[in-house]
Amino acid sequence: QNIVYYDTVDSTQKIAHELSQKGAEEGTLVVADEQTGGRGRMARVWYSPKGTGIWMSIILRPNIPLQKTPQLTLLTAVALVEGIEEATGLSPTIKWPNDILINGKKAVGILTELEAEADQVHSVIIGIGINVNQQIDEFPEAIRNTATSIAIEKGEKIHRALIIQKFLERFEKWYTTYLEHGFKPIKLLWESYSISLNKTIHARTLSGTVVGKALGINEEGALLIETSEGKIEKVYSADIDIK
Ligand code: BTN
Repeated sequence: QNIVYYDTVDSTQKIAHELSQKGAEEGTLVVADEQTGGRGRMARVWYSPKGTGIWMSIILRPNIPLQKTPQLTLLTAVALVEGIEEATGLSPTIKWPNDILINGKKAVGILTELEAEADQVHSVIIGIGINVNQQIDEFPEAIRNTATSIAIEKGEKIHRALIIQKFLERFEKWYTTYLEHGFKPIKLLWESYSISLNKTIHARTLSGTVVGKALGINEEGALLIETSEGKIEKVYSADIDIK
């Protein structure tokens, strides 16, 4: 596997897109010690200070149709839960679609971006931000109540390389399984790590809010929500609040 390391970049996503355009091989990993323009989902900023977190992007070239790419985000979440658990002994959980929480606070974010033509995926860039060694007063005030780091939850600092290594082992295993056997085995694991299931949630989508009970995910990775009228809604992209 190719690992490309930088001290400071604007965003590892941007670098990964550039490398991908130049034909970088599948599995290429871009890691940076600091990002000056870290991007989150929904055009948000991802705070990426020097030396305390893991800011990385993976280039994948799966032979799958466009509508299956959300499965890769879910697969990445499973690998992160297991990798972090192995490296730290903590028990992270997943909040659909792509937040990893530790003791109920967000420690990891995933941002999946595509390069595609018609229905064919050219490459998938999976960006991962892991808060590892920050202390609480190092977070911007706006996220201090909702964000956490592995060090805060574990009560001690931890080597970032160990987390990357454990994550990559799990990721390789589940990605290979996925290419050989499809999404089913990963779906079951994802549901077992998810905190959102069987709870009442509010899903804020671009076209409005869906309220109901989270039943699970379908083959495509969409969240299934049962409304009070008994209707089952599929949500592909949203911010969710758990009630
Ligand atoms: C989220 O909004 O939860 C997703 C955050 C993703 C952050 C990571 S850090 C590495 C990669 N480079 C970026 O600019 N963003 C992703």
